Formats: sequence, structure tokens, C-alpha cells
Amino acid sequence: MVILESLSWEVSVMLKLKNVVLVRDKKTILHIDDFQLAEGEMLAVIGPNGAGKSTLLKVLALLEEPTEGEIFFRGERVTGKNALSIRRRMAVVFQEPLLLNTTVFNNVAQGLKFRGVAGPEIERRVNYWLERLGISGLRNRTPLHLSGGEAQRVGLARAFVLEPEVIFLDEPFSALDFPTRVDLLEQLSELLANTGTTAVFVTHDFTEIPYLTGNVAVVDGGTVVYRGKLKEIMKEAASIPVIKHLLKPLQKSMLVQDYFQEV
Ligand SMILES: Nc1ncnc2c1ncn2[C@@H]1O[C@H](COP(=O)(O)OP(=O)(O)OP(=O)(O)O)[C@@H](O)[C@H]1O
Ligand SMILES: [Mg+2]
Repeated sequence: MVILESLSWEVSVMLKLKNVVLVRDKKTILHIDDFQLAEGEMLAVIGPNGAGKSTLLKVLALLEEPTEGEIFFRGERVTGKNALSIRRRMAVVFQEPLLLNTTVFNNVAQGLKFRGVAGPEIERRVNYWLERLGISGLRNRTPLHLSGGEAQRVGLARAFVLEPEVIFLDEPFSALDFPTRVDLLEQLSELLANTGTTAVFVTHDFTEIPYLTGNVAVVDGGTVVYRGKLKEIMKEAASIPVIKHLLKPLQKSMLVQDYFQEV
């Protein structure tokens, strides 16, 4: 692993993985010696299909227990005893929002109900986040007939309503058309900045990263092969096969841009 920029000692670490190994079907699918996510950091995780991005995200979000190794949340080692209470300080958004067959309002309220939040407070918080994500008009709709963009706004509202300390997003906008994707990336960036929420955003598309952050971890073969600033990674791209591979479609889309400039 090439470390381009080590975290300074003053930055407090929110999440840390130490010698983590995850074995499934007798195959090691994740092995991370040392990984740190700083307080308030917005980190993009990029890598090809099957690299281990979702597995890393699920381990960080305490949704998958590693076979070996330790996880620390704000310096406290995660154990069977404290995992659930720590997990409740986190939120996750997946590519396919896992919505329930009830109203949008109830979908957003669900996590707060689980956490035992009182009715009027649920009402206030859900209304606030529906408004903030521009989906107040959908409150009584069921998710079945929502567009992909609307459904993902509901997914974001479900996560932000929990006021999590850290939010994990696994390719949340990959299935959306380009204009909707850009809208949501811009909105997410603003929400993260305004709330100061620490975030990990998994993508396989380099073009999504600059909307959100300059901090990148490149995952390949179940491990973090590169961690640093996006600009530095771009400079080194030619010498790192996995990055070269991921940048290829981008170069092709630049060819399309040239074409449009010519006509
Ligand atoms: N429960 C499991 N049992 C066996 N193998 C698994 C399991 N979960 C993941 N894997 C394997 O681990 C590897 C990493 O999977 P993962 O889903 O983390 O990749 P990814 O980088 O998120 O890929 P994608 O870009 O396609 O989403 C893959 O080869 C996958 O088949
Ligand atoms: Mg994945």
C-alpha cells in the first residue's frame, strides 16, 4: 500500500481497522492491516467490480463481522456487547434503497421508531428531512412507483433523519441517469458539509468523486492499494494498473466530448 498523505496526530480517528481479515467460502475477500477514517472525513472508496468495496463498507458499518482483527470506534474496541449501540450511531445507504411497502413517511420514520424516539419528535424530524430532500409531496406515496431518483432521496432521508455520526453510501447513485446523479451528488455534498457528518462513499466512477471530496482509497483484490488525494492519484495513474483500468472509460468519454466540440 502506498500512503500519500498520513493523517496528522491532531486529527481524531473515528473508525480504525487493525489486521482485519474476512474469509467467506474459504476465500479471503478482505485483508486490511491498518485503515483509519478521521472525524469529519469524507472518503471516496473506488475499485473495480469484485474488489471488496462493499465488503469493506459492511465491515466498517458493523454489518459484517470480520473473521480476524479488530475494529475501533472513537478509540473503543467494537465487541459483541457494544456493536449494536455503536451501529445505531451509523447509517447506510445502498444502491437499491431497501424500502418497505408502506408510505414514504413511514419509511423515513422507521429507524427513529426502532430507536424509541417519541412520536412528536419523529414527526418533526421526518418532516424536516422530507422537506430538505425535496420530497414532502411524496410523503403519502408508497415506494413501489417512485422513480429511481425519488427512491434514492427517500433512502438519503432515511439515513440523515437518524442524525448519524457516520454515514456509509454504497454506489447510491450508480443506477440513476446522469442529470439526476449530478443533482443528488451536489445535494449530498451540501448535506454532508452542513451536518459535518463523517462519510464513506463507494463508487466505481472517478467522475463522481470531485463532487464530494478529494480523499480517496483505492481498493483492489480485497485490500486498500492506494490512499491519498484524488489529484495525486490522477498524477500516478499511469503506473498503477487498477487506476489506469478505472480511468479508461473516462478517457473514452473525453473522446465523446471532443466529438461534440467539433460538431
Ligand atoms: N458472502 C460471501 N461469500 C462468498 N464470497 C463473497 C461474499 N461476499 C462477497 N464475496 C466475494 O468477495 C469479493 C468482493 O465482493 P464485494 O461485493 O465486496 O466487491 P465490490 O468491490 O463491492 O464489487 P461491485 O463493484 O461489483 O459491487 C467478490 O469476489 C465476491 O464474490
Ligand atoms: Mg459492491
